[in-house]
Amino acid sequence: MKRIGMLTSGGDCQALNAAMRGVVKSLVNSKEDVEIYGFLNGYKGLIYGDFKMLTGRDFAGILTVGGTILGSSRTPFKTIKDPDENGLDKVEAMKQNYYKLRLDCIVILGGNGTHKTANLLRQEGLNIITLPKTIDNDLYGTDMTFGFQSAVDIATECIDCIHTTAASHSRVFIVEVMGHKVGYLTLNAGMAGGADIILIPEIPYDMDKIVEAIRQREANGSRFTIIAVAEGAISKEDAKLSKKEFAKKREKLSHPSVSYEVAAGIQERTGQEVRVTVPGHTQRGGSPCPYDRVFASRLGAEAGKLILEGEYGFMVGYRNREIVKVPLEDVAGKLKMLDPNATIIQEAKMLGISFGD
Ligand code: F6P
Repeated sequence: MKRIGMLTSGGDCQALNAAMRGVVKSLVNSKEDVEIYGFLNGYKGLIYGDFKMLTGRDFAGILTVGGTILGSSRTPFKTIKDPDENGLDKVEAMKQNYYKLRLDCIVILGGNGTHKTANLLRQEGLNIITLPKTIDNDLYGTDMTFGFQSAVDIATECIDCIHTTAASHSRVFIVEVMGHKVGYLTLNAGMAGGADIILIPEIPYDMDKIVEAIRQREANGSRFTIIAVAEGAISKEDAKLSKKEFAKKREKLSHPSVSYEVAAGIQERTGQEVRVTVPGHTQRGGSPCPYDRVFASRLGAEAGKLILEGEYGFMVGYRNREIVKVPLEDVAGKLKMLDPNATIIQEAKMLGISFGD
């Protein structure tokens, strides 16, 4: 008999359900008896003992369904060791609930913040297995996270739609793509959608270079320019500021996000009309793409195998085209950034894409 807890934490993404279904199917199809405890709304469910018992049937029909049947929430790692408003020790409460239910392990689906807490629980002696989710694909230790390819599809479709209207009106269009810290999503959607300029956090931009690229396009007879901007894109000047100084500067700005700042800069220098489109959370929504369905199902099945073998303390990841188990201590607290010298960046530049650098 295996008693498994499961929770989804952090921002949701596509294929969370597919991954959980993969875990449960692989367990149910083994000869082992299993009991599944689904903790609701991320770590909150584990902290406050808010769970429901689930069977294989609960996971039927959810392969193609976006979101998470368990609900999710952000429980910042920064404050996880602080008592809650009623003085409850959250880490101790999670341990107590784990032991009360006599769990063999907890399967935790999440991104960066989630992995820090997952690793803390491992250090506290709980058996943990994690699965890598996030549309940002910025999780260390895995080449790919589920949700990413689905989000690339949606952001690309947005840029595709913008293309026709941009061409009709001879305007500059900015599409703001999710990703505060890394630019994988913006780079991939930007390249797939044929963006002319791509701005990502890893390559700070220079306003003069952006304007130069727009003017160059005009000189070549192009009527419009499309710019894919990551939420976390940053100017060369701002990149020199400390985190504190940057936050202070942002507070004073009237622009809701960097895209509007870039738009204002272009408008001021070129007199061109600029429009900003923010697809926002649509990028995390809807049905997972076929790649993510297969990928998340494979990760889930491999997690099931680790449970059956009693191997804990790992994230099931993907490296060099193989599913691998990565020790949680190697994942937690690290960010997978895009290398500004990566071949994909060089290739994009060869295609004539400007990074504003
Ligand atoms: O971490 C995934 C992500 O979608 C980021 O790309 C984005 O910056 C952030 O979450 C948005 O967070 P929230 O849903 O809390 O607004």
